[in-house]
Amino acid sequence: MKFFIDTANLEQIKEAQDLGVLDGVTTNPSLMAKEGITGAENILQHYKAICEAVEGDVSAEVIATDYEGMIQQGEELAALNPQIVVKLPMIAAGIKACKYFSDKGIKTNVTLVFSVGQAILAAKAGATYVSPFLGRLDDISTDGLNLIKEIRLVYDNYDFKTQILSASVRNTMHVVNCAKIGSDVMTGPLSSITGLLKHPLTDSGLAQFLKDYAKGN
Ligand code: E4P
Repeated sequence: MKFFIDTANLEQIKEAQDLGVLDGVTTNPSLMAKEGITGAENILQHYKAICEAVEGDVSAEVIATDYEGMIQQGEELAALNPQIVVKLPMIAAGIKACKYFSDKGIKTNVTLVFSVGQAILAAKAGATYVSPFLGRLDDISTDGLNLIKEIRLVYDNYDFKTQILSASVRNTMHVVNCAKIGSDVMTGPLSSITGLLKHPLTDSGLAQFLKDYAKGN
């Protein structure tokens, strides 16, 4: 399973990249605003900086909600760097734009997906990635993992090439459960990745090994 980090924070992106397990980055307008990145030109420059900090795919979201606007913004984003994946909302214009970009060989990520039907549409439009929002479904007492399981089943039935990018991952168990059900990618905060390192038996075992080594030296 590929690991993407879901942030626009350059320090956190670099920390995950430094760990050697990062496959890409996802952002959204809220994550950009959280870092104080506002204004079209600043946002474009920030995407360039993110691409320089990592080797993998970087999802950059369009703001337009009409087809023409999405095409114009998506082309501008894609021209920044070959790593850019044009992120499009799961609305009619987004699906139409997804088809346009996939026909042109430009990578796409259809976001804000909350049902299997929406995921089928994204795959039929040739999306590179589909982003079901696991955490946001859990937030409203709906089983987010079950959605991912059902999308996996349908995509396997028809050999759809669209990769399931489990989004809105919030914690380490989300990561582990996504891996168990065959998600292609997960995107979550830095803590959902570094948290996987932790086990008290690792810490106590290492402390004992070091103590025992010190006895003979
Ligand atoms: C997906 O690409 C989104 O950026 C993200 O995963 C949303 O996560 P949240 O529900 O924690 O805001």
